[in-house]
Amino acid sequence: MTDGVLRFGADYYPEHWPETRWTTDARLMREASFNVVRLAEFAWSKLEPREGEFDFSWLDRAIAVLHDQGIDVVLGTPTASPPMWVMKKHPDAYRVLEDGRRLTFGHRRHYCPNHEGFRESTRSIVAAMAEHYAANKAVIGWQTDNEFGDRCYCGSCGRAFARWLAKRHGSIDTLNERWGTVFWSQEYENWDDIQLPSRIARAPNPGLQLDYFRFSSDSYVDYQNIHIDILRRLCPDQWITHNLMGFKYDQIDYFDLAAPLDFVSWDNYPRLAWAMVPEVDVPAVALASDTMRGLKRKGFWVMEAQSGSGGWEDISVAPRPGEIRLWAWQAIAHGADGIIFFRWRTARVGAEQYWHGILDHHGEVGRRYEEVRRMGAELARVGGKILPTQPRAEVALMLSYDSRFAFQAQGNNPAFSYPGHLRDIYAAFHRLNVMVDVVSPEADLAGYRIVLAPALHVLPAATADRLRAYVEAGGVLLGTARTGVKGIHNEVVDAHLPGLLRDVFGVRVEEYDSPALGVATQLRAEGAGQNLTGDATANGWCDILAPEGATPLMVYEAQHYLGRAAVTEHRFGQGLALYAGTFGNAALHDHLASRLLDAAGLAEAMRPAPEGIELCWRQGDDGTRLLFVLNHGVEPRSVVLTEAFVSLIDGLPVRGETVVGAHDVLLLRTGGNLI
Ligand code: GAL
Repeated sequence: MTDGVLRFGADYYPEHWPETRWTTDARLMREASFNVVRLAEFAWSKLEPREGEFDFSWLDRAIAVLHDQGIDVVLGTPTASPPMWVMKKHPDAYRVLEDGRRLTFGHRRHYCPNHEGFRESTRSIVAAMAEHYAANKAVIGWQTDNEFGDRCYCGSCGRAFARWLAKRHGSIDTLNERWGTVFWSQEYENWDDIQLPSRIARAPNPGLQLDYFRFSSDSYVDYQNIHIDILRRLCPDQWITHNLMGFKYDQIDYFDLAAPLDFVSWDNYPRLAWAMVPEVDVPAVALASDTMRGLKRKGFWVMEAQSGSGGWEDISVAPRPGEIRLWAWQAIAHGADGIIFFRWRTARVGAEQYWHGILDHHGEVGRRYEEVRRMGAELARVGGKILPTQPRAEVALMLSYDSRFAFQAQGNNPAFSYPGHLRDIYAAFHRLNVMVDVVSPEADLAGYRIVLAPALHVLPAATADRLRAYVEAGGVLLGTARTGVKGIHNEVVDAHLPGLLRDVFGVRVEEYDSPALGVATQLRAEGAGQNLTGDATANGWCDILAPEGATPLMVYEAQHYLGRAAVTEHRFGQGLALYAGTFGNAALHDHLASRLLDAAGLAEAMRPAPEGIELCWRQGDDGTRLLFVLNHGVEPRSVVLTEAFVSLIDGLPVRGETVVGAHDVLLLRTGGNLI
């Protein structure tokens, strides 16, 4: 990332294996064209066996063995698994679950990020590592901790929350006012009175709930800053990243967590989240990569790329032949500049005995190693041509963690999931092979032709103003049901919905209906929507819309709102704002996507491809365009290439009808100096 090399390697745990094996591992890694490994993110007990007694000798030797084979190192600060002596010293640093149960020893991520003593132990190990490795040329960068997350409900958090609230609200009267604690006689007298919300007794105050989720997110951001401050001071020549958990992780505002990092990395397990379903959710994986790229609007690494079956208790579906390489190329197509496989060799001991790596338990090379080796050879040849290019999108998808947190407390309808809804809207663009950036509600929208802002539930005035200005200046906007319902304190707005955006959408929600599970209401195209055919339905929500300048595109075909507007569009300033008063099915999302693309003058960007085929582009400043044709299907497919390309791997011309094998990839180049 930072040194002009596309990085390729694995997560390696030398401390789990006899030292006599290390040279064999390093040689096999070199033969697979590795240029980096990640080490040590769980090795606290081996690095500081007793308080203040550090032993870096084994890690020094492992790094030297790897470096001898030309392999650089990323070090993890090992705080995700504090050893026994740390926990004995701080027995109240164990994380507490929402129901009050305290974690015990024998797991990982068992610490509270707000515990002062634990923070002190963190400073000590991070500073000792940083001092020791600052000048080590093999160490190119750092990963903070490992997959930050999981809310804590302990006493330290309670005290830190009170301080956080005092800073945010200034006075207890203001807090009472903003949270509306008059409801159910919940007025507080002092900051110390405020207890952490628990949903065990159901329905905590919504203001309390949202602020606690924000606080909890800030706690990890703040805890990470302990690591970052030390590393920046002591290791100015090494970069810092963290391995995030993609789009699906929902307890930390990843825009905040990513802000102080040099770049984002993330852990990509396509056959884990959907472990027991036979098919990979390809758009969901693509969305995860696009989200990770969007956090800093720049390239990212995959710090853990799936290379075998996952498994703590059960063992998940094995990657099919070609998939390990396919997923890695997919990530690169979406902006990855580094691919690190999890893990080098499957552990014989510990909780992840069944979490399979590139090598199986026995350590001999096999099918998965050969696939990785093939990819390494390809990258060694073409990585330099890929790095100067980036994905570029004209469509932005707005991801609001405030809205996500608010929906976690109040789901609105059991059929609705905010992340699921974003995934479904994204998938309609993915089906058309249109690239999408994921952006925060604070993002500058000027460069985008289309902004998708589904279910923007908690809507700060500044975001509403930005969206209004965006449409006025010619932008095309999509909003969906439950937009603009809440202000920033999670209070419902004193206005007709969609609240602050009513003028932009030119529509008023006259009434709404939260349908019973499984009820889908047929939609009928109307007026300007006439060309929208198919079987679009309203699901999960039905806003009954009264247009105020907007034109109906679709109306309901049933219920007491038969014939009433469900989807509308509104010319506003130079732009156009579409509002869908429902979450809808895939047919509706397809209609919306093509209508939006048409309206934005991007019709030519729609490139539907045969089923299973994903098309992605990376572009360079010199006019080079790289096309990645990814076949996620189990059958070979043909695609028709209307431009002249050359194959990136062998430089041969490719044009017209071209076959892509099952789980295979075409890497093509056009433009620039080539054609
Ligand atoms: C990740 C984690 C790794 C390993 C892997 C497989 O979430 O960062 O340490 O646990 O999953 O479970």
